[in-house]
Amino acid sequence: MKKIKVGILGATGMVGVEYVDFLINHPWFKISTLSGKKSVGRKYGEAVKALSNVPREVGDLEVIDPDPRKFDADLVFSSLPSEAAREVEREFIDHGFPVISEASAYRMEKDVPLIIPEVNPEHLELIRNQKKNSGGFIVTTPNCTAVGLVLSLKPVLEYYGIKKVVVATYQAITGAGFPGVPSYSILGNVIPYIKKEEEKVSEETKKILGRFNGSSIEYASFPVEASCARVPTIDGHLEAVYVETEREVHLDEAVEIFRRFRGEPQKLSLPTAPREPIIVTEIEDRPQPRLDVDAGSVPGMSIVVGRVRRGESNNVLKYFVLSHNRIRGAAGTAILTAELLTAKGYIG
Ligand SMILES: NC(=O)c1ccc[n+]([C@@H]2O[C@H](COP(=O)([O-])OP(=O)(O)OC[C@H]3O[C@@H](n4cnc5c(N)ncnc54)[C@H](OP(=O)(O)O)[C@@H]3O)[C@@H](O)[C@H]2O)c1
Repeated sequence: MKKIKVGILGATGMVGVEYVDFLINHPWFKISTLSGKKSVGRKYGEAVKALSNVPREVGDLEVIDPDPRKFDADLVFSSLPSEAAREVEREFIDHGFPVISEASAYRMEKDVPLIIPEVNPEHLELIRNQKKNSGGFIVTTPNCTAVGLVLSLKPVLEYYGIKKVVVATYQAITGAGFPGVPSYSILGNVIPYIKKEEEKVSEETKKILGRFNGSSIEYASFPVEASCARVPTIDGHLEAVYVETEREVHLDEAVEIFRRFRGEPQKLSLPTAPREPIIVTEIEDRPQPRLDVDAGSVPGMSIVVGRVRRGESNNVLKYFVLSHNRIRGAAGTAILTAELLTAKGYIG
């Protein structure tokens, strides 16, 4: 199979480097174009700011500006700050590119799919509503905090039904991009506020877990109450989840439904699909970001659920979930989405 050429918008950022890492030896995709803003004109290897080893193959590529006329690509991943994404992504769509974006600019538009490939692949049908003469379209992936939460909620919703979700988060500093939160503010500290995060977690969860009725998404109707905090960990968002269910919860059964959960990427054996999307740990003080963030057959792509408990009421399930914010929460989910789009014939 001839490889599909991919360009990356925002390639020099915290998430951009993860794209490069995942794509450098990808069996279907080949990096062709890397773009940035302040680093335009520099070699990629010198422009990357995050502490990361840049693969030799792309170290000498010149970082270009985000101009669709200069992009030699069949597909574009966007890791742009949201303010820039609205205009830049629109230009790429208008020039006929399929765009897969992890920026929030278009996530909640009604004709734009917001995808976690294991959870709502049927929402990709929304692409047909975009009807672009150019042939371009956009698919988005969720906020990094919503990804771990929603992936863990999907089997709970299918098996028990959900009446209400309450979640408290402990989010790593890389989630804020580079340079992110000032070191003096976060070292030895916890900041119980992340701008617009709680709203995104709540709204995006309801969209992703919503029902596609053949033409649009009917949002899930249960409330999602989030409290989000930044903590001084490097990678990995930990979340304490409380779910009120429709049906009575049985603990052993709940552990099994997490363990058994598989989605379309696993059935299709997509290259970036982890064998187990949800890993359950029964060690009493896990998951921990430092120990578990890279768990699984594709490091960073599985979420880890632990401390699974029933609440005081029989219809309450409680657990912690950990997800890699830059991989499962960003680049990894976007690449898995691109693989799914390719397998379904939307790309290539
Ligand atoms: N970090 C995470 O864990 C995470 C998770 C999920 C989603 N996201 C989302 O992913 C996006 C990128 O996040 P990040 O953490 O990688 O941010 P970042 O480290 O700040 O990187 C931003 C990237 O965008 C480029 N850029 C900035 N302004 C631009 C503009 N006006 N036009 C074109 N390019 C521009 C930068 O290029 P230069 O370096 O050349 O200036 C850099 O490559 C954001 O929308 C964020 O919300 C992040």
